[in-house]
Amino acid sequence: MTRLKPVFWMTLVLSIVTLIVMIFILMQPTNEKLLIKVPEKNGLRDTVINISSDDQESVKESEPVKEKEPVTERTIDDPEVADLALQIAKAKRVLKQVKVACFITTQPSMIRSKLAAVSNTWAPRIDKIFYLMTDNKTMNISFPNLLLVNITNDRQHLTEKTVFAFKYLYKHHLNEFEWFLKADDDSYIIVENLKYLLSQYNSSKPIYLGHHFKHYSQNGYMSGGGSYVLSREALRLLVENGYNVPGRCRQKGGAEDIETGRCLTKAGALVHSSVDNRDRESFHPMNIYGYIIGPLPKWIVNYDRNQAKVGNDCCSQLTISFHYTGPKLMSTLDFLLYRTSVYGRNLDYGRLKNFFKLGTVPPPGPETKIIPYFFEKREDYYKNATAWRLRNNTVL
Ligand SMILES: *[C@@H]1O[C@H](CO)[C@@H](O)[C@H](O)[C@H]1NC(C)=O
Ligand SMILES: *[C@@H]1O[C@H](CO)[C@@H](O)[C@H](O)[C@H]1NC(C)=O
Ligand SMILES: *[C@@H]1O[C@H](CO)[C@@H](O)[C@H](O)[C@H]1NC(C)=O
Ligand SMILES: *[C@@H]1O[C@H](CO)[C@@H](O)[C@H](O)[C@H]1NC(C)=O
Ligand SMILES: *[C@@H]1O[C@H](CO)[C@@H](O)[C@H](O)[C@H]1NC(C)=O
Ligand SMILES: *[C@@H]1O[C@H](CO)[C@@H](O)[C@H](O)[C@H]1NC(C)=O
Ligand SMILES: *[C@@H]1O[C@H](CO)[C@@H](O)[C@H](O)[C@H]1NC(C)=O
Repeated sequence: MTRLKPVFWMTLVLSIVTLIVMIFILMQPTNEKLLIKVPEKNGLRDTVINISSDDQESVKESEPVKEKEPVTERTIDDPEVADLALQIAKAKRVLKQVKVACFITTQPSMIRSKLAAVSNTWAPRIDKIFYLMTDNKTMNISFPNLLLVNITNDRQHLTEKTVFAFKYLYKHHLNEFEWFLKADDDSYIIVENLKYLLSQYNSSKPIYLGHHFKHYSQNGYMSGGGSYVLSREALRLLVENGYNVPGRCRQKGGAEDIETGRCLTKAGALVHSSVDNRDRESFHPMNIYGYIIGPLPKWIVNYDRNQAKVGNDCCSQLTISFHYTGPKLMSTLDFLLYRTSVYGRNLDYGRLKNFFKLGTVPPPGPETKIIPYFFEKREDYYKNATAWRLRNNTVL
């Protein structure tokens, strides 16, 4: 009896642990529950959200942009009210005038989850969005704003997809939009803050901005997950001075964001700042928990051109993007930002003066250790580097 005692206790403890784990597993929401529920009719065609025409208008109508102009309703005598009204009018002008097109590289299996969330939250606030994917013929896909391409839907083909998208935007939309945003299907974008930052820059200059990583090229590159932006001029250079020059840029394989960064550098685009005047980042390659609670992955801290911060200083008050925002978190953030007010609080527009640090970001000094590019054979790298030096007298 006494001999059996330890065995008995061990069995008991194991049973309790198993029970707790099982309860925990059972209490987790299933994947189905995480999906955005949309009216179910018959088949996928009807279950996806159609925001292509009239619906899109109704989505937009509920946003602050289309709220009634307070200028006509409030008395202009009160200087505070007048100032607020003026600032809102200015914001309206900025949101209307700064034209941004966006593309998202994704796949059919994301339509009912991630793309439904994007379409229900920030996508209608941007001027034009494309969801870039291949219909692999097993799904009869239909969704607004699809850009169907014949490029495999996997990580290895992201560079190819991105190159396709930038060439497509260059060919068909270069004059229509001033700015071109690349985002992921789990990026959350605060479009108004993005447009406000971009309104301070001149899209006729070759501007490349986002969350700045310092490795792999002289100017580093912008994190793909954090989403990044090219000005019209940067896009023009990328295609004319990058992709269209044989052998200059890798257009297949490698890592999408690194290859884009390297090609932009070679093409003559310049990295511009997107941090605010307290050095808080506005583009974020991790999700909001990673930044507010932490810890951030070591590699992010190591890659960051600006010092990575966790906690209240992680993120600008005019934050623009978060990565790894699944449908559930996306809807939650959107509700808190667009449908929740805190009584008595408002944005102090006076403080927006010189809010962002603007201007080009120079390459880091020699004291900064840069990881060299390793996505091709080392000999190739030096061969190409030599070729480049000969051609342009610039080491890239
Ligand atoms: C989307 O809505 C438009 C107009 O309401 C309609 O013509 C179109 O067929 C719809 N597309 C889908 C996929 O339901
Ligand atoms: C096609 O896409 C579906 C959904 O993403 C996936 O389950 C299937 O494996 C894909 N088929 C091929 C051949 O890639
Ligand atoms: C795909 O959708 C179209 C239009 O609704 C329909 O005519 C066609 O039969 C569908 N194909 C398959 C394989 O489900
Ligand atoms: C897609 O590309 C593959 C390989 O290049 C080709 O065999 C196939 O015919 C293409 N499909 C379409 C629909 O163009
Ligand atoms: C924008 O940049 C272009 C090209 O450098 C220049 O011609 C134009 O005057 C600039 N516009 C403003 C408003 O500064
Ligand atoms: C570098 O050169 C090799 C061969 O010389 C070529 O295959 C490769 O595509 C080049 N890479 C870039 C990024 O130019
Ligand atoms: C050399 O590179 C710089 C920027 O990297 C670019 O502005 C310039 O146009 C290039 N010159 C030639 C001849 O390609």
